[in-house]
Amino acid sequence: MTSDIHWHHSRVTRSMRERRNGHRSFILWFTGLSGAGKSTLAHRVEEILFERGCRTYVFDGDNVRHGLCADLGFSAADRSENIRRIGEMSKLFIDAGVIALTAFISPFRRDRQQVRALVEPGDFVEVFCDAPLEVCEERDVKGLYQKARQGVIPEFTGISSPYEAPIAPEITVHTGRDSLEHCAHQVITFLEQHRKIQS
Ligand code: ADX
Repeated sequence: MTSDIHWHHSRVTRSMRERRNGHRSFILWFTGLSGAGKSTLAHRVEEILFERGCRTYVFDGDNVRHGLCADLGFSAADRSENIRRIGEMSKLFIDAGVIALTAFISPFRRDRQQVRALVEPGDFVEVFCDAPLEVCEERDVKGLYQKARQGVIPEFTGISSPYEAPIAPEITVHTGRDSLEHCAHQVITFLEQHRKIQS
């Protein structure tokens, strides 16, 4: 970063935007294996929040990799850069007063920790989509696990690249076992209990 660039402070602040929106802004960070159901759950939670009048936006791994992160692959360094960009983007959305929901494998603890450290305490809500590898592989919605087993896709998370499960996530949902509605309800209940949204 060059010292010739200065931060311009907006006169319309985050708290002014939050007041107008009628809710706090924060990041709901869904992490888990490919096929664990992160995107499905993030979109369902978004729908519920949206119906309640919240301002929301979902960042989805597969979508973002078509545009903003189209230049990145799946090496550890590229995944870290992917998460760094999404973290910075989500931080801007917090400033915009929006609830940012992100659905990325984000396999490395350090990368997720860096996003957490980027924002104010309490602004990063980590949701661990805990589905066993066997279940994700059995589902194999996109046929990628099969290709990974055949060695066609290298560095595939859970097969030939590690996934570091969160140690102390705010929320753990068992997306391999529980229904979508059950998991969504669990997330919404947490947000209500922690006064992120109104009951
Ligand atoms: S992350 O590791 O950088 O967080 P991200 O969530 O953006 O990954 O993208 C994951 C999606 O890319 C998977 O759901 C899958 O559809 C696809 N994909 C393609 N190659 C790989 C790979 N080697 N490892 C994991 N996912 C992959």
